[in-house]
Amino acid sequence: MILLGVNIDHCATVRQARYRQVAVTDGGVIEPDPVALAVLAERAGADGITVHLREDRRHIQERDVWRLRESIATRLNLEMTCTPAMTEFALKLKPDFVCLVPENREEVTTEGGLDVVGGRGRVRDCVAAMNAAGIKASLFIDPDEAQIECAAAVAAPFVELHTGAYASACHTPQQGREFQRLRLGTAQAHELGLTVNAGHGINYVNIAEVRTLPHLHELNIGHSIISRALFTGIDEAVREMKARMNA
Ligand code: PXP
Repeated sequence: MILLGVNIDHCATVRQARYRQVAVTDGGVIEPDPVALAVLAERAGADGITVHLREDRRHIQERDVWRLRESIATRLNLEMTCTPAMTEFALKLKPDFVCLVPENREEVTTEGGLDVVGGRGRVRDCVAAMNAAGIKASLFIDPDEAQIECAAAVAAPFVELHTGAYASACHTPQQGREFQRLRLGTAQAHELGLTVNAGHGINYVNIAEVRTLPHLHELNIGHSIISRALFTGIDEAVREMKARMNA
């Protein structure tokens, strides 16, 4: 069975669209509350909750993350950049998982995978700090042979393979090639002893193919679930995705 991590960042995006200037991000008339959404997602079958605390705090705020830490019953996965400030924050928070991602202020969403090869020392130190604190570290990387090899070399227990290029190539001849890269990547990561997650751009249509990737442990899905929840409610949106993941 493939597990589902629900990324709730875009619930906070909607809140920030109205309440960016307000100091306290919850209570009173401030809506929607991502923590309340997380609890409902869990009741619908989410196996974990994922949030990205971005440097520019464009959606999730620190207070959301602390409230999630106290409120959710499943597992908290904190996406973060590999900086000393975020490492210090994660060590205080003690989420169940961290996922190290690249971050660029100009991007609309996380665009490429983390360059583990180029930032090997920095990533290795961060993974070591997480391993020592009992926090499971995952590296969000493209399905690239050298990056996967380096992820294993820096002792990360998990990788999350970036499915964005595959998802963006929808209905083009490139999509088959991107899927093949993911197939090879999942197999390579598994052989190296890494637990394999995947995420980015997964939706209710492409899940039919994504779910056939070998060795998948967990998928992290945000935008499509939050979008569907606007029409069906979060309960049905999560149940439907879980059903399609494990059809
Ligand atoms: N995994 C990672 C590492 C991400 O950065 C994101 C986007 O925040 C996702 C998964 C979820 O992507 P999407 O919102 O496209 O489902």
